Amino acid sequence: MAEELSEKERLLLEIRKEVENCRKCPLYKKRKKVVFGDGNPDSKLMVIGEAPGKEEDETGIPFVGRAGRLLRKLLKDTGLEEFYITNVVKCRPPHNRTPLKKEIEACVPFLERQIALLKPSIILTLGNTAFKAVTGENHKLTDVRGKILKISQKVICPSFHPSFALRNKRAKESLTEDIKSLLSYLKSE
Ligand code: URA
Ligand code: SF4
Repeated sequence: MAEELSEKERLLLEIRKEVENCRKCPLYKKRKKVVFGDGNPDSKLMVIGEAPGKEEDETGIPFVGRAGRLLRKLLKDTGLEEFYITNVVKCRPPHNRTPLKKEIEACVPFLERQIALLKPSIILTLGNTAFKAVTGENHKLTDVRGKILKISQKVICPSFHPSFALRNKRAKESLTEDIKSLLSYLKSE
């Protein structure tokens, strides 16, 4: 017999069903699969990226392409195996362009509901889009990355996006450092 879902899992599934039927922005037209989120909803860490890429659109799972594999490896190497991972925008933008303001505004309420339901101890935002969408702040990423920020009752650790880390050695080192500092935060909690 299938295990019963927890209340949290049940509510998360409700949001997922809404997202799967969503047509609130034009990105629904070209999606193969909605990319809702992956991982253990009871994790203390929530990781938030920008939008699905090609592999994610094909599989429906976030962060399974090249950048995703790098990120998952960095998290694993640091000892962070428990996390819930998702994106600001749940459908793939054409040619992996940055999502438009309108698309983000249409989609971000789903992310806000995921955050409110999962109540992670800390959120790792990857890249500018995720930092801005989660905090509403306009700081330059290089000024805030690696810091542990408390913004509207959320604890946020902003870092670079792994696709940038793939192209830039220093960004990769920073991302690795930031993951380590968020692990120390979780241990000290
Ligand atoms: N980049 C993202 O921001 N999210 C993914 O799911 C994959 C790549
Ligand atoms: Fe809906 Fe978000 Fe997909 Fe746009 S990107 S159609 S708002 S789920």
